[in-house]
Amino acid sequence: MSMRTMVRAALVGCLAAIAVEPLSAQPGGRGRLPGDVALEKGPLAANEFEKNALAVLTDIAANERFRNVPQHDGRLLRIFTQSLNAQHVVELGTSTGYSGIWFGLALKETGGKLTTYEIDAKRAATARENFEQAKMADLITLVEGDAHEEVKKLTGSIDIIFLDADKDGYVDYLNKLLPLLRPGGLILAHNINPRMADPQYMEAITTNPNLETVVRGGMAITLKKK
Ligand SMILES: C[S@@+](CC[C@H](N)C(=O)[O-])C[C@H]1O[C@@H](n2cnc3c(N)ncnc32)[C@H](O)[C@@H]1O
Repeated sequence: MSMRTMVRAALVGCLAAIAVEPLSAQPGGRGRLPGDVALEKGPLAANEFEKNALAVLTDIAANERFRNVPQHDGRLLRIFTQSLNAQHVVELGTSTGYSGIWFGLALKETGGKLTTYEIDAKRAATARENFEQAKMADLITLVEGDAHEEVKKLTGSIDIIFLDADKDGYVDYLNKLLPLLRPGGLILAHNINPRMADPQYMEAITTNPNLETVVRGGMAITLKKK
C-alpha cells in the first residue's frame, strides 16, 4: 500500500469513528459520547415510579444550569448501588439532585437510603423539589452545609461513598468516611482525569493495600477489600 493510500485509509477511519459517535441527546449528556457509551440505548422504565423518575431526570438535564454527572455515569451509580444491595449511600455534592435520583432508583429496590450533602442553599432547595417530584423524599436525606463538618456526625455502616464535591477535599472525605465503609463497599470519585485529579487523593487510593482502585471514564472506582 502506498503512503498516500495509507493516509487516506487512516483519514476515512477517523471520520467513520466520528460519524458513529452521535451527540448526546440523553439527560445529563454533554457533547460527544465516548464510543462504548454510544453502543448503549437509553434507560427503559419498568413501572410508573421509574417512568416518573426518568421524566424528572430528563427535565433536570434539559434545564441544566449546574454541572451534574452525565447520564451514563448516573446509570452506573444506579447499577453499583443495586448490585451491592446498598442500604446506605453517602454522596458529597448534591447540586440539584440529578445523581441523587439515579441512586434513588436503585435504593427504591434495595430498601436503602441516601444521605447527600450540599453547601449551596439554592441548589439544595432545587434538589429537595426534584426529590419530591421524583417521589424519593422518603429515600433521601439532604444535609445542607459544609460536608467536611457535617459528615463527622455520621454513624453506622456505609455501602457506597460518592465523591462529587470540592475536588481538593476528596482526601479529607476519604479519611473521615473510610472507617465507616463496610468491607466490600465502594468509594466512587468523579472527575478523575489527568487534569482534575488531586494527586494526593490518587496516592491515597492507590497505595493502600486494603484498597483496590481502577479509573474508568473519569470515575475512580475503589473497593475496600476488608
Ligand atoms: C459537581 S456538583 C455535584 C453534582 C451532583 N453530584 C450531580 O451529579 O447531580 C458539586 C457540588 O458540590 C457542592 N459542594 C462543594 N463544596 C462542598 C462542601 N464543602 N460541602 C458540601 N457541598 C459542597 C457544590 O456546591 C456543588 O453543588
